[in-house]
Amino acid sequence: MASDRDVAVAFASAWGRRVGRPLSGWEVTAATGVRGLRLVNESGAFARFLLTEASDEAAAALRANAVRWPMVAVEQRDAREPRSDGPFDYVDIDPYGSPVPFVPAAFAALRPGGVIAATATDLMVLAGVQKGACERRYGARPVRGRLGPEGGLRILLAYLSGEARTRGLAVRPLLAYVGEHHLRAFVQVVGGSERDSRDPIGEIDPHDWSGPSVGDRGPYGPLWLGPLFDPELVGSLRVPSTSAVPDETGHLLSTWRDEVSADVPFYFEANRLASVLALSTPPPIAAFLEELRRAGYRAARTHARPEGFRTDAPRPVVESIARALARGP
Ligand SMILES: C[S@@+](CC[C@H](N)C(=O)[O-])C[C@H]1O[C@@H](n2cnc3c(N)ncnc32)[C@H](O)[C@@H]1O
Repeated sequence: MASDRDVAVAFASAWGRRVGRPLSGWEVTAATGVRGLRLVNESGAFARFLLTEASDEAAAALRANAVRWPMVAVEQRDAREPRSDGPFDYVDIDPYGSPVPFVPAAFAALRPGGVIAATATDLMVLAGVQKGACERRYGARPVRGRLGPEGGLRILLAYLSGEARTRGLAVRPLLAYVGEHHLRAFVQVVGGSERDSRDPIGEIDPHDWSGPSVGDRGPYGPLWLGPLFDPELVGSLRVPSTSAVPDETGHLLSTWRDEVSADVPFYFEANRLASVLALSTPPPIAAFLEELRRAGYRAARTHARPEGFRTDAPRPVVESIARALARGP
């Protein structure tokens, strides 16, 4: 998770610069404080930070680890309980499993315009293996298979949007991504007057969907069908100078910087296209991107899979480019 915590530090630094004043933060399930204390120490964005943790053993280590930071408060308690000491500009939910149990307390403690950062590791549920559990927990039918994790990310965002809506609020994703074993979303929560007239939330019905194939057992969702990235925010992310894995984090940031140019739902994969179309070899992605852009479409690689690319070109166009590339010049 070193790179994931680097991203959190980079996000907090960038968000602090954007807000233009010192922030208050709360990490809901802090364990021994690795994430929260890195945020405080390395982002320089926070004037006040609360770390809560329920377990005796972790809370004892957390207290010992936090002692050097006077602006950090540690509390051993159940983070699902409502608080009265907010509001916070930034609430980080990084639990084992689903963030859902912590979401009501996070919304209640958040300042208007503040950010909720939520991690989900319940990928079996969100990515479609445990379909019934996804319907019960998130109220959504998941996408199964290779695009399941991104489907899960879009279910998580739709869920956060729904929770915001019931409070007369809305969410704007600033950075939402698929990690190796988890999903992570940083969303700004904005008030009624700032909200767009209609949230970009909907279902995908495979019969009238011309994007990358998400399977034929739909409809899937509700899913967030809007952007995953705020281009300005993504453009201002910097690898922390303290990073232990600067190459890995730098690669992720530079992929996102390209990816914002084609921030559309789901991605194609050259090898999958080759297999579906019975092509002898997958066309190189660089050639795909060039042809799609030449034809006037948006196209970019995605962080979600090394051999994947996003484009707003409909599937028949992508497939005909794949065939043409396979035939050669
Ligand atoms: C995945 S760990 C947190 C890791 C931490 N965010 C980090 O990056 O180092 C999840 C922690 O949540 C704590 N936890 C679980 N339920 C909780 C609750 N209701 N309130 C507070 N902490 C809780 C667990 O004891 C565990 O230490």
